[in-house]
Formats: sequence, structure tokens, C-alpha cells
Amino acid sequence: MSLLSPKWGLGRSLLALSPFLVVAPLLALKQHYYLPEPETALTNALTGLPQISEARILNLTRYLSEDIGFRTVGTYEHSLADAWMVEQAEEAKRHCERVVRETGRKLECEVWRQQGSGTHRFDMMGKRLYKSYQNLTNIVVRVSDGTDAGKAHALLLNSHLDSTLPSPGAADDAISVAIMLDCIRVLVDTPEWSPAHAVVFLFNHAEESLQDGSHLFSTQHPIRHTVRAIINLEAAGTTGRELLFQATSEEMVKAYSHVPRPFGTIFANDVFNSGVLLSDTDFRQFEEYLDVPGLDIAIVGNSYLYHMRKDLVENIEAGVAQNMGENALALIRHLTAPDSALPELKAGFGEHKRMHLVFFGLLSHFFIYRFSTAKVIYASLLAGSLMLTRPVLPRLRGGVVAVIGGLLGSLLAPNIVAFCMHRVLGRGMSWFAGGHFAAIGLYAPVTLLGGLASQLLVPATDEKTVFSALLLLQATAALVIQLLNVGSAAAFFIAGLPIFSALLLNDVALTTRKGEISLWTYGLGQFLPLMTGTLIMIPTLEVFVPLTGRLGDVPADNIVGTLIAVLGSQALPLAIPFAHRFGRKSLQTLVIVLSAVTVVNMAIYARKNAFDDMHQKRLFVLHLENVTTHEHHLHIAAADGAPGFHDLVKDISTEFGGVLAPVPTALVMDDYNSDWDSLYPFSAFLSPYKIELSMDTGYTSPWLARETSFLLVAVNDRTDLAAGTRSFTLQVHHPGLIWTVIAFDAHVLEWNLDNNPPPEHARHWVKEASFYKSDTWTLDLVVQVPEDGNSTILFNFIGLQEKAMWPAKQAVKAQGGPAMELFERLDAWLDVRTGGTVDALLLGCVAGTVLV
Ligand SMILES: *[C@@H]1O[C@H](CO)[C@@H](O)[C@H](O)[C@H]1NC(C)=O
Ligand SMILES: [Zn+2]
Repeated sequence: MSLLSPKWGLGRSLLALSPFLVVAPLLALKQHYYLPEPETALTNALTGLPQISEARILNLTRYLSEDIGFRTVGTYEHSLADAWMVEQAEEAKRHCERVVRETGRKLECEVWRQQGSGTHRFDMMGKRLYKSYQNLTNIVVRVSDGTDAGKAHALLLNSHLDSTLPSPGAADDAISVAIMLDCIRVLVDTPEWSPAHAVVFLFNHAEESLQDGSHLFSTQHPIRHTVRAIINLEAAGTTGRELLFQATSEEMVKAYSHVPRPFGTIFANDVFNSGVLLSDTDFRQFEEYLDVPGLDIAIVGNSYLYHMRKDLVENIEAGVAQNMGENALALIRHLTAPDSALPELKAGFGEHKRMHLVFFGLLSHFFIYRFSTAKVIYASLLAGSLMLTRPVLPRLRGGVVAVIGGLLGSLLAPNIVAFCMHRVLGRGMSWFAGGHFAAIGLYAPVTLLGGLASQLLVPATDEKTVFSALLLLQATAALVIQLLNVGSAAAFFIAGLPIFSALLLNDVALTTRKGEISLWTYGLGQFLPLMTGTLIMIPTLEVFVPLTGRLGDVPADNIVGTLIAVLGSQALPLAIPFAHRFGRKSLQTLVIVLSAVTVVNMAIYARKNAFDDMHQKRLFVLHLENVTTHEHHLHIAAADGAPGFHDLVKDISTEFGGVLAPVPTALVMDDYNSDWDSLYPFSAFLSPYKIELSMDTGYTSPWLARETSFLLVAVNDRTDLAAGTRSFTLQVHHPGLIWTVIAFDAHVLEWNLDNNPPPEHARHWVKEASFYKSDTWTLDLVVQVPEDGNSTILFNFIGLQEKAMWPAKQAVKAQGGPAMELFERLDAWLDVRTGGTVDALLLGCVAGTVLV
């Protein structure tokens, strides 16, 4: 027996292959989780040069997220962050000027506090939506060499100062604000450094209200036309290397390849651009209104804490800030250098927005190649594979049936288990609290089971034919998908190439008999696919597993099970030919063992709880006072499909509902459920309930008094009977209320929002966001008078009480009235009832309807 091609049994073969199967994923894990040591000092002790300091970054981050706290647009704390940022920017400028005085360097730092109002259309999740903002601010710092030529072309770095409703926003996005400040310090303190092209730091102060700050900059700032490229720093998590998930130009990807630790792939780019993540960043505004290319970069690990109360400095992994800071600094240095491609990145890039570039990092190398190159090399791989597998081509059909059967089996089996967990056992999402990878424990063995079991059903075929068919299918998939200009085709090439090489080696050196496959061919052919497969699987699960906690009542088990099946099959493609190596009996044994594992697994996972204190359920609670009907309700909704929600709502109703309140029933969430308009259109993900509250008899509503009320009035109201139109300006007064939303049905002919309202009777939503104490906004409307001549319009309106948001306003709870009293009790009760496994967003709202 040849050692190059040993004829061992199943057990011994698996044992011999195990080093390959263990080392490949371990290498991937090591690459994925690598972060640099955090630095404390501002200056490097060895070189004496300034360096990015994680300690300083986290101090600044902590100040914003904990000392100031929740910086929701329109709140008092939001205005504090604005003032703090102005002071930071001015201090940086003073420092810059000192340095220039002392050294005579070619350097200039300028500061703007931009304040302005505007409107924009912001479609999302298939819904048409408009924003109107008043007096919002941005703080802008431009660092240049002080010359007109140096300021003519600028690189823009963006981060946002504000945080979203339920979150102190340490990672999202205070850390990026702090990183940008630290970059300014390092650049200014670096002897001799002078930028050939300016860098504009935009500390944008309204992202979470749907990108108003970036809209304001991109449409109104005096230096907006000098911007040639943008880099957006964001977060949807708190751990790991930040991910480049959107890139829109070749030059920018090349610049990115020079950062110390690049982490960006065409796969993430394709996934994000497909829209399945339903998320958006300021990048969208820059693309739309500045029309320049850029990079969108975000911290994405542990996205369980994204937009949660626990987005705190203590939960940010050590090294995250150091890594992101050093990468950002390298990008700035590279793109402001004299030989930078920046000046060539002219506006008008929108026409060729789709970047035809494949890019990914593998071990220490960052690969970049064009689509045209990809097509040639993938075609060559397919041609080579056809040559190599020529002897088995006449029998190929059997092999193709086996491989396709394997793929179908791998997809079907985990979906059956998912259905059982979710529908039959009522234990869906039981892997959620276990972290990103817990679902692998449940769904990987059954994926393998499905793949192998299917091979018992397909007609008997020999090992080498199946192996060859697998190679040809990988190579074909790579070429066909690339011909469709989808760069993610690289995944099939990365799997196909090592399998091709292993098979070539097999035929040339490892085996003596024709039609034989050496055991080592599996080890060699499987190593790279398993490593890259793991490298794709990790971030995918890091993003999608936590996402199932905010996707609404979807079959999360099927989604996650399918992802694991697809990525798992691609990571372990040679499992299918391997199934034909030992004959039916061994295969049957393997199938029986895996079936037993799957059943035991299901029993174990069925006992797990979906949530724990670091992987919490998101609960949305509104205390809503209706100023039209004078009713008070508690509205409760969840954004996930895990079991147990109905019982929780029943208990809340028993504990907090009015004495006569009926048992709560699930409500329909549709466009006319205006109670949730503050969260529209995300509200589509919510499964809402409503509980009646009985108010204290002594309660007098502050929202009904004329001077403190929520008012919608029409001014300059004119009806033109001949033309059949009515025009008026709707004034919305909302003292003490923020994030107001109006919704109404009308056939709008003209308005001040944009030039093309839908040419029909339709429902419209306009959401407002404004600076603290800016409490009036207006909407100019020309509507068609309906046939019956009655042109009154019913407006639904709602707003959030600036002083009634729990826990954001805990410190001033006395000012929050009955809503805050209830929230304090409810939050403490929830903590006990659920064992700290729920993060509730508690908002005091005022709403009503009015005919105008
Ligand atoms: C915007 O701010 C200015 C100056 O602070 C103020 O006079 C004006 O009333 C504000 N606008 C709104 C709509 O509140
Ligand atoms: Zn953000």
C-alpha cells in the first residue's frame, strides 16, 4: 500500500485528515480576531512621534456616551454634545495655530459650526418618506496646507455625534468622533506633515434621525463642492476589526489596501448592496448629493448591542479603537499625499457607480483585481478543469446528479430542523443567546447529514466522477456568476482553484492507478476552501444572527439554518465525493451517527432560552396620550419572532393595565396604525399590542393647554374652485415634543418637499427632527379638491416628549410626568420578570388627529 494513497477505512481516514480540518478554521479565526495592542501614551516611546491613543479615544467616547449620555436629536443632551464638540474643535484649532507659530509649518485648521434647515426624501424598506429638519448642526474641521490649491480637492471623513433613541451610542458613533479627533491631534503633532490635499472632518450631528446632518452638509455647506471622496466611520457593534462593507471606487479600495489591517471583502460589499440588511448610513447622502466615491467602514462584531442601552465603553473590545484609529490615519495620510488619486476623483461618478473590482483579504495579503481579469482567470480555471477531468466526462452526469443532490440535501435537512424548532416545538431562536456561532452547533451537523444522506438516494457513482463534477460545478459557478458582474463569484474560484490543484497533483504524483483519489487530495483540496469558508462564515453570522433579533416575526431559524447550510456546503465541498469513497455501509453508519447527533442537538437546543443579559430581547414601549380622544394607552411591541412574547404582554397588562382593561390582543401593523409612526417605517417589523391605562383622576394634561399644546393649523388657506385645488401652509407647533410625524391621505399636486409628489391620492408621511427648542415647522401644500368638494384633510400626528424617555431621562424623571412614573416601575418590574433579558425602549408620546 502506498503512503501517498493509503487505503484506510473511514475512521482512520478522518483521523488522518483531521489536522487539515482543524488547522484551516483555526487559522481563519486567528486572522479574523486579530486586534492590535491598545496604546495609552500619546507619543510612541521609541520613535518620539505622536501615535493613535486608544486610552484618549475611549476617554472622549466615555465623556460623550456617559457624562453627556443619550444624545437623541432634539434633546437637551444633544445640544450639550453640540457645544462640547464646538469646544473640542476650537481647542484643536488653537493647538494647530500654536504649532504653526512655533514651527512655521504649512498647516491651517479651520472650524465651522454649520446650522441649517431643510427637507429631503428618504425612501426606505420600500416606503416613500420625507424628512423635514430645523436648525440642525454640524461641526466641521478642515486641515489643509493653507493654500487655495491645497483646499481645492478634499477628503471628507464623517462620523456622527448623535445617538439613537434607546442608546448612549458609545460605539455608534461616539468612538468614531473620538477617533477623528485623535487623528487631527496626531496629524498636527507630526513634525513636517503637511497635506497636499485638505482633509475635512465632519462631526455630523444628526444621523440617527435619518441622515439629516449629512444631508445638511452635502446640500448647504460652503466647502461641499471641494469634496472628492468620503470615508464614513460607523458602528453596528462593539467588537472586532472594523469592516469595509461599501466601496465605490477602485482608487479608494487601493488606498484602503495600504492600511495596517485591512478587513474588507467583495462579499460584504455585495451583501450590503443587495439591501437585505435594511440598513443605511450617511454614505447614502454623500453618494446622492455630493456624487463622489468613498468607503463605508463600520465596527460590526457583537451587533447584539447595536442601538441598545449596553452600547457602552465597557463593552467595546480592547484594540477596536486602536485598530480603527490607525486604519483611518493611514487612509488620511495616503489620500492627502502629493501623489494621491484624490484630485482625479471628480463628481459625476454616479454614472459608473458600480465598481468592477474584486477584493478580499487572505492571510496577510489583500487581493485586488478587476472584473475583466476575473473573467479571464475564471474561464481559464474552467478550461483547465475540463482538460483535467476529460477521462470522466462521459460519466459526468452521474457526478453532477450526486453533487446537486448533495446541495439540495444540505439545504433541505436544516430547514426541516428549523421548522421543527420554530413551529413544532415552539422553541425558535434558541441559539440567539449563545452568541454568533451557537447556531452552528445546531445547524452544521444536520447540513452534513442532509448532504451525506442524499448520496444514499442518488444512483451509485464512483468517487472520482463525483470529485470531478464538483470541480467543474465550482469553476462553472465562478465564471457564470462573474459574467453576471457579481464579484462574489470569487468564493467559487477560491474553492475551485485549490480543488483543481489538488486533483492535478493527485493525477500527476499521488496516485498510480487511473480513476483513483488519494486521501491527501482531500486534505490539500479542502484546506483553502475551509479556511476562506470560515472567513466568510464568521462575519456573516456576526451580522445576521443578531439581526434576527430586530427583523420582526420572521422564521429566524430557517434564515440562519439556510445561511449555515449554504456557507457550510461551500466551506466543505469535498464532503460529497468523500461520501463515495468507502461504500454504502460506511456511509449508512455516518448517516445514522449524524442523525443521532441531530436529535440530541434538538433536545439540547430546545431547552435553551433565546435571550440573556448580554443578548437581550428588544422591547418597544410607548406611553401614549391621545389629545383628541383623551385616552391613555400603553403600546408594546417586539421585533423578533421568539416565543413567550404574548405571555409577557399579558403579565404587563395585569400588572400595569387599567382595572377594566381587557386581555390585550395583537394588533395589525399597517400604514394606518399611526400609533407607531415615530418608528415608521421600521414599525413594519413590530408585532404590536395595546393596553388601556386608567389615569389618576387628578391628572390635568399639559398637552391640552393652549400654549403648551401640540397644534396643527393651516395658514394662507385658499381654495381655487375653478382649478379644483386648495393651497395652504400647515404649521406644526410642538413645544416639548421632538421627532414629530404627520401622516395624511391626499392627492398632492405640489409641496415644498420635492418636485414630484405621487400623481395620485396616496398616504404621506413627513417626519421632523430639529435642534433643541426649535419647535415649529411648516409644510406648504397644494392639493387636489376631491369630487365631493370636501377638501379637509385628516392629519394623524404624534411626537415624543423630550422629557419622557426612559432610561435616557432618568436623571430628570420628575419632569416627565405620568409616563416616566410608569416607566420607572415598568422597567424595574421587567428586569425582575425577565431576569434582565429584555432591553426596553420606553417613550412617552403625545398623539392625535385633526381635520384641517
Ligand atoms: C432656529 O434658531 C434660531 C436662532 O436660534 C431661532 O430664532 C429660530 O426660531 C429657530 N427656528 C425654529 C424653527 O425654531
Ligand atoms: Zn451610527
